[in-house]
Amino acid sequence: MKITYLGHSAFLLEGDKIKALIDPFISGNPKCTVKVEDLKDITHIFLTHGHGDHLGDTVALAKANNSLIVCPYELGLYLAKEGLSVHTMHIGGRFGFDFGTVKMTPALHGGGIEQPDGTVINGGTACGYVIGVDGKKVYHAGDTGLTMDMKLLEYENIDVALLPIGGNFTMDIQDAIRAVDFIKPKTVVPMHYDTFPVIEVEVKEFKSGVKDVQVKVMNSEDMLEI
Ligand code: NI
Ligand code: MN
Repeated sequence: MKITYLGHSAFLLEGDKIKALIDPFISGNPKCTVKVEDLKDITHIFLTHGHGDHLGDTVALAKANNSLIVCPYELGLYLAKEGLSVHTMHIGGRFGFDFGTVKMTPALHGGGIEQPDGTVINGGTACGYVIGVDGKKVYHAGDTGLTMDMKLLEYENIDVALLPIGGNFTMDIQDAIRAVDFIKPKTVVPMHYDTFPVIEVEVKEFKSGVKDVQVKVMNSEDMLEI
């Protein structure tokens, strides 16, 4: 499996039968170096919640690529109304797709979908994902605070954990270090930091604080192959 970072919480996952985006915040993302039109043949889009910095360019990308969107049930109802293909799931559920398995995990966060007129539509609860592809497992935490539920992820044997570290809206560095201790992945990649002033951090403090787990700090378009 290849994991390419696109800045903030956006990643491209590629396996034998899948080319997926997670939380494709591309066009408005100051940390993303690729263009929406450069992302081609996207088979799936995973969404952790409906906030703008995660929903991002989903509608345009899904329409252009005829992608299947995997997301929480209520967010899926909203996207289906836009004419998009959705596979909805809910917290704790696992499903076998042709490319592998997906488990939707809890996230302590909101899920409202912001509208251009300032109103907010209820997009259900936020989530994370454990995605198994070609015998490897990646955990994308979404936006979340530290939760004791993360201790259960140790049983998943995660190869790569993608964890928010920016604080304010999510775990900060100290809590993310505790999350790594709970999850015990082989590799951890920090995300959701430095995109905006309110989530600026010293990423080297995360790198030095994590013990016994490989920390891979990625910039946009950096790729990790597992
Ligand atoms: Ni959010
Ligand atoms: Mn966010």
